[in-house]
Amino acid sequence: MSNWKHIQLEQGDDWCMLTLSRPKVLNALSKELLEELSEAIDWVENQEAVRALIITGAGEKAFVAGADISELRQVPSAVEAERLAILGQSIFTRIEELAKPVIMAVNGYALGGGCELAMSGDILLAADHARFGQPEVNLGVIPGYGGTQRLSRAIGKHTAKYLCMTGDMISAEEALRMGLVQKVVPAADLLEEAKKLAKRLAQKAPVALHLTKKAINYGAEADLKTGLQMEASYFGLSFNTEDRIEGMDAFLAKKSPQFKGK
Ligand code: HXC
Repeated sequence: MSNWKHIQLEQGDDWCMLTLSRPKVLNALSKELLEELSEAIDWVENQEAVRALIITGAGEKAFVAGADISELRQVPSAVEAERLAILGQSIFTRIEELAKPVIMAVNGYALGGGCELAMSGDILLAADHARFGQPEVNLGVIPGYGGTQRLSRAIGKHTAKYLCMTGDMISAEEALRMGLVQKVVPAADLLEEAKKLAKRLAQKAPVALHLTKKAINYGAEADLKTGLQMEASYFGLSFNTEDRIEGMDAFLAKKSPQFKGK
């Protein structure tokens, strides 16, 4: 199973946590780490028992401090740079579209590719000392793992331009005010909070969670009428499940539902 050099796996009964770990470089994303992340996502995707995923960074200082700048420096051409951007984007899009909820436990710096990775999650929890930013402009380049697109969708075009054009970092509290993160907690409590949330989400009906995620992701890109049509269609699909009988019967019988993901 987990044979990764830079990713640790922790498994609970119905959730798991991937910890990205290159501590000497603040968990910077090398190509090797990206490839391992892709394999780890394949693995999570295929584990029926895993109903929620947490992604975090090793140590107390950084979630992910961006793409590995030593590697970036060696990228020989525009074509290779574009390939690298497409590789990272495709992995982050798979995380965004994973059929399970993804919690990002942002335990420190989330810069460049780190901020972009965090934004591919469904729910962002941040330690109070976490800092977010897209500092690529300071390296003479632009974000390449989705920053110009996901940041403007998350916090609006002008605030995204402000962050991407100045390269400034913002605190976890500012990120919360902007709607980029959903909750800020003391650093010492972050992983416990993330696990508590993962366990709660793991008890929900998996198909309903997946359809919710799909409808919201889809609707963020569509006009209202099309989004509403999609919602109605996914609402219909949720009625194909045994879990909706379980959920409604349990409510009527004043019991807790036991969802099976069918
Ligand atoms: C490689 C990195 C790194 C990175 C930090 N390090 N970030 N190495 N790539 N992204 C290394 C440092 O060189 C240093 O190595 C060690 O980690 C500790 O970092 P320090 O800078 O000494 O720590 P500190 O002074 O506390 O500053 C923390 C920091 C700073 C503010 C996070 O490290 C920083 O600004 N990092 C770069 C952030 C960034 O520009 N990210 C965007 C990358 S581009 P030594 O050997 O000296 O101990 C990107 C593009 C994505 O993400 C799209 C690609 C297609």
